[in-house]
Amino acid sequence: PVTIFKNPKEASLHVAHRIANLIKEKQKKNENAVLGLATGATPIAVYAELVRLHKEEGLSFKNVVTFNLDEYYPMQPNAAQSYVTFMNDHLFNHIDIDKNNIHVPDGTLALDDIQAYCLAYENKIENFGGLDIQILGIGRTGHIGFNEPGSAPNSGTRLVTLDDLTRRDAARDFGGKSNVPTKAITMGIGTIFKAREIVLMAWNKKKAPIIKKAVEGEISSDVPATYLQLSDSVEFILDEDAACLLT
Ligand code: F6R
Repeated sequence: PVTIFKNPKEASLHVAHRIANLIKEKQKKNENAVLGLATGATPIAVYAELVRLHKEEGLSFKNVVTFNLDEYYPMQPNAAQSYVTFMNDHLFNHIDIDKNNIHVPDGTLALDDIQAYCLAYENKIENFGGLDIQILGIGRTGHIGFNEPGSAPNSGTRLVTLDDLTRRDAARDFGGKSNVPTKAITMGIGTIFKAREIVLMAWNKKKAPIIKKAVEGEISSDVPATYLQLSDSVEFILDEDAACLLT
């Protein structure tokens, strides 16, 4: 289904409260909440609201386990552009999560070690009982995670090559496209599909053309987000601008 909110703020509050409710439901049952998280501009207000709920309303993250979708490769975790830094700045440094429960793909591995690492990442998700919810943004290439055009629907966590448009969109963060890594480690489409709930968020006019393709276009590896049409557990959460081309 597609749900359209007036603006990104209202949509973000909705998603944050959905996550908070999941965490509280799990707490009642003494279980972990296993969250699949995304970086980028889109989820920033979601994380801000979760931090507010922690600081002002006592929401605890002690029972929360997180797996991030992706990380650039190569990438040092303490670099300004790393997704580790992003997550620390926007969420992890401000809540009471156990640092051992945080998982972000490791951008420092030797090439030879990546395949085994990716399999272990998948296994860790499974061992925690699978993702309760996966949060997604969408790139202008139609990528989810860093599953660029050409990605297979059953793909797992792996090393991928970033699309040129994705690197151009990241150029500002890196002070020029030539500084943007050419590769990344990402959960696969198959990994994302195993989540019990999937929430794809998109705001702004800039995302309207790709949202039209993702929601209404033919299902094809040319636009990996179209695969989400095949899942019953997906919700597209949009603002009016991102939804403006939908019929
Ligand atoms: C980030 C990720 C990407 C972004 C997408 C949109 O972890 O996996 O798929 O969600 O590139 O980025 P923003 O939100 O910056 O427009």
